[in-house]
Amino acid sequence: MTTPRKDGLPMSERQSITSRLQHYAPRRLVNNEPVAEGRITRSVGLTLEAVGLKVSVGKQCEVINSDGRSIEAEVVGFAGDRVFLMPIKRVEGLQPGARVIPVSAQQGMRIGLQTLGRVVNGIGQPLDNKGPLVGDEFLDFAPQEINPLQRHPISETLDVGVRAINALITVGRGQRLGLMAGSGVGKSVLMGMMTKFTTADIVVVGLIGERGREVKEFIDHILGEEGIRRAVVVASPADDAPLMRLRASQLSSRIAEYYRDKGLNVLLLMDSLTRYAQAQREIALAIGEPPATKGYPPSVFAKIPQLVERAGNADKGQGSITAFYTVLTEGDDLQDPIADSARAILDGHVVLSRRLAEEGIYPAIDVEASISRAMQNIVPEDHLKQMQRFKQLLSRYQQNRDLISIGAYSPGADAETDAAIERFPHLRAFIQQGINQRVLMPESIANLQSVIRTQATKGSGPLASQHQR
Ligand SMILES: Nc1ncnc2c1ncn2[C@@H]1O[C@H](COP(=O)(O)OP(=O)(O)OP(=O)(O)O)[C@@H](O)[C@H]1O
Ligand SMILES: [Mg+2]
Repeated sequence: MTTPRKDGLPMSERQSITSRLQHYAPRRLVNNEPVAEGRITRSVGLTLEAVGLKVSVGKQCEVINSDGRSIEAEVVGFAGDRVFLMPIKRVEGLQPGARVIPVSAQQGMRIGLQTLGRVVNGIGQPLDNKGPLVGDEFLDFAPQEINPLQRHPISETLDVGVRAINALITVGRGQRLGLMAGSGVGKSVLMGMMTKFTTADIVVVGLIGERGREVKEFIDHILGEEGIRRAVVVASPADDAPLMRLRASQLSSRIAEYYRDKGLNVLLLMDSLTRYAQAQREIALAIGEPPATKGYPPSVFAKIPQLVERAGNADKGQGSITAFYTVLTEGDDLQDPIADSARAILDGHVVLSRRLAEEGIYPAIDVEASISRAMQNIVPEDHLKQMQRFKQLLSRYQQNRDLISIGAYSPGADAETDAAIERFPHLRAFIQQGINQRVLMPESIANLQSVIRTQATKGSGPLASQHQR
């Protein structure tokens, strides 16, 4: 039974009112600026519409229902007096007339070396039941800008522990690459291999918009206890609100920036850039932006560079962010607008081929279609020549593949094709690598040399013998 107090209110109601008042009391004034409070007038699909607010785009607000429950939302646009908001979580239970109060508190989280090993959501809340985040510093979520002239050029190679990438698509410290493939071709597995094998001080993993089940799998099986010790994971699965997914992508970049600014070499892996673009598409369409290319509104193509440009090198001696972004090429179409836009902004891409995956060649790296734009500036001339020779041989084999497979090619007709046929099994074997096998840079280069130089004896290798018959 509740006891009436002096003010005549039952205790439970009094507590409820007090807690509701506490909610906004400290937030009402920012630098003595009066804060106008708004009201929700409309909620259609994902968007909330409010009137009475005087706020700018990007402002965080709290939407408070009459029952005291609150939802965080962000201002994503306006039209006349109406302000459009996008909630960060689902809005079940929201009522017309709910109050909208701009939040003045700085958005951020505690961070430090203690953050390593933790898993957080898009707004920096822990997801791993290991208690609240602790850290020596407060990380402000606002992105940092680097003057392009202060970016140290890519000048060193980075060992990612995957032979085909180390030798043929060499990655530089501070480079940003795309990992492009259709669904189920092995993007996530390859990403996992690089997470474990790359020589980086810190790994930041953004799991954006993928299956919820994969988050746990990635942490337990791919990263493992060893891997998670030097990693921070930001996860926002497919069932999160689009704003949360967007924030998670930005937070992964922000965390990477923090460690880079401490002078560390960071590896940032984001799975996937496509889901980030799709989250932005959902938001933009919901507030009425017209679709342009394949249903993607123009703002999506502006958001991709905004995210990707945050990675890279800082000034000399100040750490780096090497980043890999997976890009889903729908229906294996490399002309997909997101893939196209990512290719244009990134410093290279690794393409995975469904054909290779179907043949059981893993990682299914399509060497001919992949390129590292930084490679020519960071590897010696010899290495570059060997890489080109590898591609020439592979491409020569592929051009004649049909003839060879039906036995219509007669050995001796063309010396280059003969060389390609002889070495093809070695080229194939060179690309293949087990999930748990790490191949360091010197070994990768030595393997490349031996594959190029191998003077295969006639009749050796499975395919060569096939053509002898
Ligand atoms: N290196 C590998 N060795 C053996 N099998 C692999 C390898 N890479 C991928 N696979 C197989 O391919 C399947 C799909 O891989 P993965 O989940 O990485 O694909 P994905 O491209 O990330 O797919 P999605 O687009 O659906 O996220 C794996 O479950 C596994 O069976
Ligand atoms: Mg995947």
